[in-house]
Amino acid sequence: MCGIVGAVAERNVVEILLEGLKRLEYRGYDSAGVALLQNDGTLTRIRRTGKVQELADAVAEGAALGSTGIAHTRWATHGGVTEANAHPHFSTERVAVVHNGIIENYVNLKAQLKEKGYTFTSDTDTETIAHTVHEELKAGKPLLDAVQSAVKTFHGAYGTVIMDKEDPSRVVVARSGSPLVIGLGLGENFIASDQMALLPVTRRFIFLEEGDVAEITRRDVKIFDKDGNAVEREIIESNIEHDAGDKAGYRHYMLKEIHEQPTVVRNALKDRIDENGLTVDVFGQGADEIFKKVQHVQIIACGTSYHAGMTARYWLEQYANISCNVEIASEFRYRKSVVHPNSLLITISQSGETADTLAALRLAKELGYMSSLTICNVQGSSLVRESDLAFMTRAGAEIGVASTKAFTTQLAAFLMLTLALGKENGMTETDSKAIISALHSLPAKLEETLAITGGIEDLAEEFADKNHSLFLGRGDQYPIAMEGALKLKEISYIHAEAYASGELKHGPLALIDDEMPVIVVAPNNELLEKLKSNVEEVRARGGIMYVFADKDAAFAGDETMRVIDVPHCEAAIAPIIYTLPLQLLSYYVALIKGTDVDQPRNLAKSVTVE
Ligand code: G6P
Repeated sequence: MCGIVGAVAERNVVEILLEGLKRLEYRGYDSAGVALLQNDGTLTRIRRTGKVQELADAVAEGAALGSTGIAHTRWATHGGVTEANAHPHFSTERVAVVHNGIIENYVNLKAQLKEKGYTFTSDTDTETIAHTVHEELKAGKPLLDAVQSAVKTFHGAYGTVIMDKEDPSRVVVARSGSPLVIGLGLGENFIASDQMALLPVTRRFIFLEEGDVAEITRRDVKIFDKDGNAVEREIIESNIEHDAGDKAGYRHYMLKEIHEQPTVVRNALKDRIDENGLTVDVFGQGADEIFKKVQHVQIIACGTSYHAGMTARYWLEQYANISCNVEIASEFRYRKSVVHPNSLLITISQSGETADTLAALRLAKELGYMSSLTICNVQGSSLVRESDLAFMTRAGAEIGVASTKAFTTQLAAFLMLTLALGKENGMTETDSKAIISALHSLPAKLEETLAITGGIEDLAEEFADKNHSLFLGRGDQYPIAMEGALKLKEISYIHAEAYASGELKHGPLALIDDEMPVIVVAPNNELLEKLKSNVEEVRARGGIMYVFADKDAAFAGDETMRVIDVPHCEAAIAPIIYTLPLQLLSYYVALIKGTDVDQPRNLAKSVTVE
């Protein structure tokens, strides 16, 4: 989604800003812009729709310079994709603003500002920030005070950075609902919406908290909390390893990330599990004590992370004997729900910044959940900071918008959680041993599974000209079918629906014909025979099937049913294993269709607005 980069330095910051924007491209955007202040008071702005490279070319052509600057990638919410709507927005050539989030009361603010004589040149909500700050500056306030006063009038979400042409030595930033991180340099300081943007210039970060306003100069950073009190925030040394330009020889980040899964899952398990089970405190200090009291689990997430939660529900109820509900964050946060006694709230998120998930966590605290745990991939993210317990999935930076390795590490985390909660709830020795042994075998099984790529490439050829598809699974493979359908939709733009195969005859059978490929995930488990009956129902109606099946499942392929062998694995890890061929299928279909695999149209990596 939208990205922000800002810098206050002695040197020209143009390259830093553009490199930062390039590093945020993966989050999804449709236009980009930069504004620069020179010490002589010149304010320059360049904006372009399309890719950051087009902006970079325009900046190079204009030989733009500046030692204080702000830059932005915009993902349209209010107002179409036009240069006039791209950020930075100005107020009377004096104030420049970039903004992530939505100012929900912008219609009222706009009316009031128009009455005061301000002219609007865009359809965005952001322009109201520029004019409101300008109005405060006109009253003679310094920029910091002006921003502190202005934010009091905003409802909604913002991560915003503001420059005043009459004071090129600083930027002022404000955070409420949309993340901002300050990067500390030597004789220069930075601001961004994501630490990734600043990794070439610093590894020292301060994550702003809700309601913070900060003033950033070359030599100094002053932070004030929501009540205006000066506060110190912790400085965190980032250990993220990521070179945004490095696809390690793969054609796309997504393919690289698919192939990284054996390694990152190995990392996720490292030092956390041995042959006897979990090593202590895997879920954070005090987790053991909390887990002893947990009687119910409520999982909240969005997108792919939601599918990890759906899978976890099968495991927690089957193996750990603990009741579990799973809900999409945007639903949970806006409905009245009943809190079970001694409930643990679990959020799952790759980014740790998804607006709905974060809002759900905050609501859960008000509702009286006993404790909160987040399963997350980004250290220092909002969900990690605001949850009682945090489990880091260690998947490394995930750049492809369609989540792959983050998902499989989330699933590995949930199997470990199943062991931890199962220990307190009478999990059988047999189940416990089976999960431990399955987890130990997991990285090698993932490697083996990736080796079946060839067959999937052929299959993708048959698939690519279809407009619709149906994914079927049963039990803990039903969420995997949902995830397979989501991957195909996201990157190949083919309509894909997932069904629990027992539901086939309650509707989707009506859709079956030879133009509607049906993908079936079929490990050799206790539901296999039932699944085979469902397959026959499709076959009898002339459907074309692609069955990903355990070698021992004995599916006989023919002209209407292509069978793709998946290595045999233990039941507990089958959902993780069967995810991989479905990821590869959607990747190869997208390649054939020629879509933008890493940055699919209209989608964003980190959804920081509702
Ligand atoms: C976006 C991304 C998805 C992701 C979802 C939830 O829609 O495109 O890949 O699954 O957000 O994100 P989170 O960071 O909370 O896992």
